[in-house]
Amino acid sequence: MRFFVDTADIAAIRELHELGMVDGVTTNPSLILKSGRNIAEVTREICEMVPGPVSAEVVASDAEGMIREGKHLAQIAPNVTVKVPLTWDGLKACKALTDDGHMVNVTLCFTPAQAILAAKAGATFISPFIGRLDDIGLDGMELIADIRRIYDNYGYETNVLAASIRSVNHIIECARIGADVITAPPAVIKAMASHVLTDKGLEQFNADWAKTGQKIGL
Ligand code: E4P
Repeated sequence: MRFFVDTADIAAIRELHELGMVDGVTTNPSLILKSGRNIAEVTREICEMVPGPVSAEVVASDAEGMIREGKHLAQIAPNVTVKVPLTWDGLKACKALTDDGHMVNVTLCFTPAQAILAAKAGATFISPFIGRLDDIGLDGMELIADIRRIYDNYGYETNVLAASIRSVNHIIECARIGADVITAPPAVIKAMASHVLTDKGLEQFNADWAKTGQKIGL
């Protein structure tokens, strides 16, 4: 399973990247706002650090504008993935940009029907949003499972990029289902290392070790 990190925070990406945890990065307009950085500058900096796909999102609402913005973003670095919304215009932009040789991530996907259209438009990645479906009382994980099954049924090559991940359990369920990629905030990826029994066991080992009076390597 590939791990993308869902942030435009350079320090947070670097920390995970140094541990080999980052296969790619996703950003969106809200994450750019949070970073306080210029989109072109921060995208370039991320692309220089991470060799994998780095999603940068268009903001135009018409296909022509999305294609123009997408081509502009794609010039920043060869590993930029143009992110377009799952609207009819977004699908047109997806087709044009993929035909032009660019990687495209179709985002804001909330139904299997939308995911089928994205695959047919040649998307490199489809981003179904788990957390935002859970937020309105629906089952985000069911959407991941449906898309996986449908894509496998027909051999669609579009990668399932599970997004809007809020918990470690979301990641594990995605791994069970067979999502190709997850994109998660740095804090959720780091939380994968934590377990109460790990902390408890370590506390006990440290206490017992102190009683031995020994030192290692001294
Ligand atoms: C994905 O590409 C999106 O940037 C992201 O996962 C959205 O997550 P949110 O619903 O937590 O904002």
